[in-house]
Amino acid sequence: MSAQSAIVLHKLLKRFNDFTAVNGIDLEIKKGEIFGLLGPNGAGKSTTINMILGLIKPTSGSITVEDIDMINKQELGKAHIGIVSQETLIEPELTAAQNIVLFGRLYHVSENKIDEKVDELLNLAELTDFKDKYAGTFSGGMQRRLAVVRALVHDPDIILLDEPTNGLDVQNRVKLWELLRHINETRNVTVLITTQYLEEADNLCNRIAIIDHGKIIALGTSSQLKQSIGKGNVIDISANKELIPHIEKLMKDMGLESAKGTGNKVMANIGTDPMKKINKLLGILEKNKIHIDGISMHEPTLDDVFLKLTGTSMRDAVETSSKNDRWLAGGRHGMM
Ligand SMILES: Nc1ncnc2c1ncn2[C@@H]1O[C@H](COP(=O)(O)OP(=O)(O)O)[C@@H](O)[C@H]1O
Ligand SMILES: [Mg+2]
Repeated sequence: MSAQSAIVLHKLLKRFNDFTAVNGIDLEIKKGEIFGLLGPNGAGKSTTINMILGLIKPTSGSITVEDIDMINKQELGKAHIGIVSQETLIEPELTAAQNIVLFGRLYHVSENKIDEKVDELLNLAELTDFKDKYAGTFSGGMQRRLAVVRALVHDPDIILLDEPTNGLDVQNRVKLWELLRHINETRNVTVLITTQYLEEADNLCNRIAIIDHGKIIALGTSSQLKQSIGKGNVIDISANKELIPHIEKLMKDMGLESAKGTGNKVMANIGTDPMKKINKLLGILEKNKIHIDGISMHEPTLDDVFLKLTGTSMRDAVETSSKNDRWLAGGRHGMM
């Protein structure tokens, strides 16, 4: 723990009966960072966040928030943290202002101070004109912005957001990122956000920890993570599913050792002399009478990193899981 740390997790572990949801996490989040915990559904993101918040008791390990031991002095630590949780939507029967007042009281902010905060925070969320409108009539994007600024009512040093943009359209997602960046820069608030969106981690976060099956499997800036899979670009070969293992083997045999197949694709880090290698590969495939559907080359993405580390594509995992989305309820009314 150093003076620069906002949150430190040490050997954090959570078992539910004999299932290990969080499997020994060590992580240090620095003051002023926008830190992303990126992982597919079921990776252990919410369990980790809820342990930091004191909502779930860890099986073992330690949590320190702003130098406070969160296992023994949780109440003290909570004052430093603002919460935007995955489950708690804003109160639909209350107005935007009343939603903030309610949160202020929960955090024992004085009534005078709360009144000031209401105007300041609604302005921050660009919701001033909706101050006395029922939050239940707001669009998904407006509700999420209200949930974010509401978390600032007691001037926390850190905000924790559990998949805050889940189910939002791209436009509203970008708008929420801008709000978070603005809060981080102008109020010096450390941001810890969980997400299953690669683009979100990539665009918003200073540093990213990739979590899978309760373990941190990679940590660094977006470009560090991308560089970790090797120099140069990545190629994708798409082909019939049955051919994938065969193609993977041929690629490995010709020296593309990083070749990894999943679904109907094989990816490999191509390194130097890409065109020469691609031509060679196409020659080998032809000789072996293997028909491919396509080949493409691109700069490494976080999905390539995830695929390389886990053998599965995160994009595939997210596309299946986002269908049962709990956050979608607010999006019906079409307001921005
Ligand atoms: N209260 C619980 N009892 C049993 N298993 C749980 C409980 N909460 C979460 N889990 C399991 O722990 C794993 C991690 O869950 P969670 O932290 O919610 O993942 P994420 O937020 O990354 O989607 C999942 O397999 C989930 O089913
Ligand atoms: Mg979750």
